[in-house]
Amino acid sequence: MTALDLSSPVAVVGTGTMGQGIAQVALVAGHHVRLFDAAPGRAQDAADAIGARLDRLVEKDRMTPADRDAARGRLHAAGSLAELADCSLVVEAVLEQLDVKQQLLRDLEDVVDEDCLLATNTSSLSVTAIGGVLRNPGRFVGLHFFNPAPLLPLVEVVSGFATDVTSATRAYEMARAWGKTPVACADTPGFIVNRLARPFYAEAFAAYEAQSADPATIDAVLRECGGFRMGAFELTDLIGQDVNEAVTHSVWQAFFQDVRFTPSLAQRRLVESGRLGRKTGQGWYDYGDDAERAEPHTAEKAQAPAYVVAEGDLGPASDLLALIREAGVPVREDEEDHGTRLVLPSGGQLVLADGQTSVEFRDVVYFDLALDYRRATRIALSASQDTQPQTLSEAVGLFQALGKDVSVLGDTPGMIVARTVARIVDLAHDAVAKGVATEEDVDTAMRLGVNYPLGPFEWSRRLGRSWAHEILDELHQRDPSGRYAPSLALYRHAYATDKREGTP
Ligand SMILES: NC(=O)c1ccc[n+]([C@@H]2O[C@H](COP(=O)([O-])OP(=O)(O)OC[C@H]3O[C@@H](n4cnc5c(N)ncnc54)[C@H](O)[C@@H]3O)[C@@H](O)[C@H]2O)c1
Repeated sequence: MTALDLSSPVAVVGTGTMGQGIAQVALVAGHHVRLFDAAPGRAQDAADAIGARLDRLVEKDRMTPADRDAARGRLHAAGSLAELADCSLVVEAVLEQLDVKQQLLRDLEDVVDEDCLLATNTSSLSVTAIGGVLRNPGRFVGLHFFNPAPLLPLVEVVSGFATDVTSATRAYEMARAWGKTPVACADTPGFIVNRLARPFYAEAFAAYEAQSADPATIDAVLRECGGFRMGAFELTDLIGQDVNEAVTHSVWQAFFQDVRFTPSLAQRRLVESGRLGRKTGQGWYDYGDDAERAEPHTAEKAQAPAYVVAEGDLGPASDLLALIREAGVPVREDEEDHGTRLVLPSGGQLVLADGQTSVEFRDVVYFDLALDYRRATRIALSASQDTQPQTLSEAVGLFQALGKDVSVLGDTPGMIVARTVARIVDLAHDAVAKGVATEEDVDTAMRLGVNYPLGPFEWSRRLGRSWAHEILDELHQRDPSGRYAPSLALYRHAYATDKREGTP
């Protein structure tokens, strides 16, 4: 099955933000493109706006004037749906409302040929439900572009329950021919990206609700320690709190209120107060002209410990030993298997976040998972009221000696990065086990769709097969609501490793 012939006209219905972007992609790929919008004059406005964008590409030397003129000649604003009759593909990008999309598809089916591919750019509705009204739902597929469509490479090609394999393959090949990176996925709430990204927001908001730290500190930890491009608070301010909450809400509802996707009360209040983010001048942060930039909590300078004793294998944090030695702090290695931790001169312990809380141990400081301990510029620590001040001070001084800023959080089981990554890894295993997508497509989708530094499976391989299961199991024991319950797929994954390694 091949992509659409370039001589085949393509139509885009609904010419707002997404429709214009998708139309530009098809146009630049070489198709004739028809635009249609229910609001009078809007299709022509969209054609003008696309033309202006092509002008800017010419100004930036990214398109020749001849190509621009040819593209403009292929773009046509249609006055009625009937003008789309000879199109080989129609992509709808109208209002995100089931009945509106269904009515449009019924109307389209009366107009276009039998072999015209019909597609929806819905981001949260069921492709199966939208296409269910068609006489031939086999030709209907989800083509989920990301905003801005001309710039972002990812397209989720979503097969509804009734979508023919040939239609999905045609859509996939077409997205590739348009210069995009398609991933194939089943019709599931949130598809790949919006399903697997939920914990990134939810865990940050939960840590804030639990008073572990303020938004600026949590964001700094996600960026500077976790390697995420942006923190959850600043990112949702950019997306719009109402838009981000609506996605969370619809995924949660579509999963029959599965507790793993429960929306955040703190975000609800923010939306209720009208603080929707950058677009209203205020969200988690203040964007007013005289607003002060919120700074993360950063610990005062503390003395580095005279030495540390390393016990057991530090797992994902083993790079730390070399860094500590390079910083001139002697490391004594204790081969006895007391656990996996660093013991400080105070007698207190420094342990990688494992899902337990620091109140369970007399004198412990937890440190968060870093994407790369050498490159991380900040480390989060958490302590409880039972942690000796000397232990906390030595822990702070140790990481400062490695050149890191240190943020001290309240007692936070699983810290910030570790539990966020563990939950994303779990949802990824769960989704693949349920046939939503392949591991490779999941990794591609999360790297390209939300810019994660690693795909969940790359992360999982790096952290060790049982790591995510162990941390979630501990969190689940402390919060038995089900939010952290590791999936059967993750359990199987961890258990299979144990068997291979010969452990009972
Ligand atoms: N904005 C995003 O970031 C984004 C990203 C991915 C997917 N989506 C999805 O893309 C679709 C469009 O979103 P948008 O942000 O471009 O919306 P938008 O509000 O910018 O544009 C929607 C357009 O559809 C038109 N319209 C409404 N009903 C119509 C009908 N029955 N027939 C023809 N035209 C009609 C409106 O006049 C408007 O011009 C939605 O399904 C949305 O969920 C949006």
